[in-house]
Amino acid sequence: MRLEGKVAIVTGAGRGLGKGIAKKLAEEGAKVVIADMGSTQEAVDEIKAVGGEASAFSVNVSEEEEMIALVRYAVDTYGTLDIMVNNAGINRDGMLHKMTKENWDLVIAVDLTGCFYGTREAMKYMREKNYGRIINISSGSWLGNLGQANYAAAKAGVVGLTKTAAREGARKGVTCNAICPGFIETDMTLKLKEVKDGAAWDSMMSRIPMGYAGKPSDVGNMVAFLASDEAAYITAEVINVGGGMIV
Ligand code: NAI
Repeated sequence: MRLEGKVAIVTGAGRGLGKGIAKKLAEEGAKVVIADMGSTQEAVDEIKAVGGEASAFSVNVSEEEEMIALVRYAVDTYGTLDIMVNNAGINRDGMLHKMTKENWDLVIAVDLTGCFYGTREAMKYMREKNYGRIINISSGSWLGNLGQANYAAAKAGVVGLTKTAAREGARKGVTCNAICPGFIETDMTLKLKEVKDGAAWDSMMSRIPMGYAGKPSDVGNMVAFLASDEAAYITAEVINVGGGMIV
């Protein structure tokens, strides 16, 4: 129970990676706000079923006022905010020469601007109390990936944002780190099983040195560590959780 008494927000926690992260934080004793624009009930119920504390907040991370309201909700409901996990993200893949401006704007708005709002609002609050942990979910794709110009640009932006927030928050007791998941089994990636009768999925597996996709809990374990007191001197880092896939 490394996070006993702590209060966390996890965006995009209704399913997938975010849900895995929220469950791990709750398991370690944190009270968690499940923030998502989609369904949140399942995640809340799963946490409560094992004795954890969670509540739901409906939010579109690309809407500034809604993100301001999200941080206010956590503080009003649980009295404080210690851990902010900016996880919500989408992809709209396509080769650059065919990429529409609409798909560019959408991915930047959710994956980068949403992360900016979450990081800024958390930072405002955490600076005042001289304590905080901000954890941003980037992606191994930030280094560049075929068909992901919009996503790679957003996720590289998340790294720059994270490193700057880390420097600005350091004297105020606020750490900020980014995690780059490799290939984790969620709705976002399971779509690949339908491409070329599963050949696309198999090809992806062959690129992972460990030979299999990660689980949301693999990322949750890293988030819990970075959120804990054990990670007090770790900030501005970009940490891969990818079974050796990102080198
Ligand atoms: P997912 O598609 O399974 O779940 C994403 C969640 O975010 C959903 O619950 C969805 O409702 C929510 N969401 C989407 N747009 C939102 C918005 N505008 N406002 C609020 N909530 C919103 O995706 P997954 O795989 O769980 O991904 C989570 C994060 O991890 C994303 O940032 C993604 O880019 C990143 N990631 C995932 C990898 C993977 O292998 N699954 C690899 C690298 C990074």
